[in-house]
Amino acid sequence: MPEEDKEVKQHFDLNSADYDRWMGSASHGMMHYGDHSQYERNLKEKILSLTGLTSLNEIRNSVVHRVEALAEKADIQEGETVVDSGCGRGGNTIWLARNTDAEKVIGLDIDSDLIEKARENAEEAGVEDKTEFIEGDFDNLPLEDFDVYFAVESQCYSENEEKLTEQIFNKINPGGRIVISDGFRTEEFSEEDMEVANKMHKGWGVDYMAYRENFERYLKQAGFKNIQVEPLMDKIGPTSKYLHRASVLTTPYVDLRLLIAEARHKAASKILGVEKESYRHSAKRYNQLRNLLTTGRYQYIAGKKGIFNQYDFYAEKPES
Ligand SMILES: C[S@@+](CC[C@H](N)C(=O)[O-])C[C@H]1O[C@@H](n2cnc3c(N)ncnc32)[C@H](O)[C@@H]1O
Repeated sequence: MPEEDKEVKQHFDLNSADYDRWMGSASHGMMHYGDHSQYERNLKEKILSLTGLTSLNEIRNSVVHRVEALAEKADIQEGETVVDSGCGRGGNTIWLARNTDAEKVIGLDIDSDLIEKARENAEEAGVEDKTEFIEGDFDNLPLEDFDVYFAVESQCYSENEEKLTEQIFNKINPGGRIVISDGFRTEEFSEEDMEVANKMHKGWGVDYMAYRENFERYLKQAGFKNIQVEPLMDKIGPTSKYLHRASVLTTPYVDLRLLIAEARHKAASKILGVEKESYRHSAKRYNQLRNLLTTGRYQYIAGKKGIFNQYDFYAEKPES
């Protein structure tokens, strides 16, 4: 599929602002679940957590802690080149450039707007010399000669995980490490599970999720060694619950806005005969936001049912 046609581009064009609003992403440019195992709650947050709620400050910090923990797993050495695959607005790329001894961190993303924003963010952060941003599709990996392949919540958009792992193996340097952290199916879906999964996928713009077991097999098949897999639900649980609560609470408001936006769009085109682009866009955006809220609810339900989990995958390409 040509890169410009991929649905995922439209998804992030429409949704990046919502990630900012919900996850405090504007402060760090990252779009993924947090790792809450390192976060020290203050007294107010401890009391809040008794009611099942999580502060935005905790979410914001935990999102960064997840990258910290993954960078530790990747064991990035001085002078190495790191590829941050599906880098979005470059939050992880910039963090890695600032906090590791890598010589270069290359952010790769399919979305040209996000790549442009990532370049701006890197410049603002003063790491433009240590970073590079490339527009491209990781399913046709346009990079080689790198030491670490780092991907947080982007692999789930791959159209062929088997081909992806093979390409990474062929293009990464001997001794290189792969660190992929993402959502996977944990088991064969029943019909009822499939319904839950479809509701979960919809708002993320994801068609399906790979089985954890299959992904591990693909890594092995490709030639990777020392494969380690860590389930993350205990660590990311509070973000999952936070997204669920926030989705439940805001759905009635968004439903109302969607109704108004659609009625306005219909009235303008049918009664007045004018196709106003801003009305059309607004209806589309609220529709997408509604899907995102459904996903917010169902990712938690799927986690509770045990059919979805986030996992860290670590693997090495042998030296020879
Ligand atoms: C949920 S965001 C995660 C962004 C970033 N990794 C983070 O942790 O903040 C997923 C990103 O993957 C990118 N992406 C999805 N499919 C891609 C593909 N085939 N090639 C490159 N990037 C892709 C999207 O454009 C988006 O920026």
